[in-house]
Amino acid sequence: MSGPRRAAATPRALHVLDEVESTQSVLAGLAAGGAPEGTVVTARHQTGGRGRRGRGWWDRPGESLLLSLLLRPGIHASHAAQLSLVGALAVTDALGTAAQVDARIRWPNDVLAGGRKIGGILPEGAAGCDGRLGHVILGIGINVDQAAFPDELAERATSLRLLTGRSHDPARLLEPVLDALERRYEEWRGHGFLRLRTAWRERAFTLGRPVVMPDGTIGVAVDIAEDGALLVRAADGRLERVVSGEVETVAGALAGRG
Ligand code: BTN
Repeated sequence: MSGPRRAAATPRALHVLDEVESTQSVLAGLAAGGAPEGTVVTARHQTGGRGRRGRGWWDRPGESLLLSLLLRPGIHASHAAQLSLVGALAVTDALGTAAQVDARIRWPNDVLAGGRKIGGILPEGAAGCDGRLGHVILGIGINVDQAAFPDELAERATSLRLLTGRSHDPARLLEPVLDALERRYEEWRGHGFLRLRTAWRERAFTLGRPVVMPDGTIGVAVDIAEDGALLVRAADGRLERVVSGEVETVAGALAGRG
């Protein structure tokens, strides 16, 4: 994904698999063997899909888009969380262009549609030299063709099928998602998150909503900073910077998140 732009007809380093434990683990193995940036692993089903904070990521075979993308941005570990924002923005792009779904981003890396979770992003980094990351594996899961969810997810999850009332093939969403990821990643690499901030704000679910801060108090998310930190107005009027992974929306915190 760095270097010359991929010609439209050039195949990507794409590994299309049937059943795996996790596409993240498969790609980690390829990355350790020197796979190039832009390598993608996708599967029809995961037996041990991973979500954030040690949670699992549920799927039924053939109903979800499950993919992992290898990035080698050479950034300091402290900037890695921005890749969640890049990934979430790209997923909303693709859902809009490929399925006309108006998706929103719940900071930092949940993708919502109709107020429910349709996708999630999981960035997993490997240490390199001098505090820089050797690579980042950006995992993306999108609920595509589910007509129903298990009871524990039913109230907070949705799928393209539930939103549009018709069946969708997850494989057909792969190219639009990869195209959007490539575009947003190149923008971010060239200009930083600042370049994506306006688009991010337009797609934000979190802004204007109450959030639980790391110390347990509740504030209102008012903006996103140039570096991707969430800016939260505390009850006493202070403006707090919250960095990735340290805040949940009030609704999310009460309901638990998928
Ligand atoms: C989250 O919202 O918690 C992030 C979910 C990320 C799930 C995707 S599915 C493809 C890739 N492989 C995994 O095991 N997880 C990510």
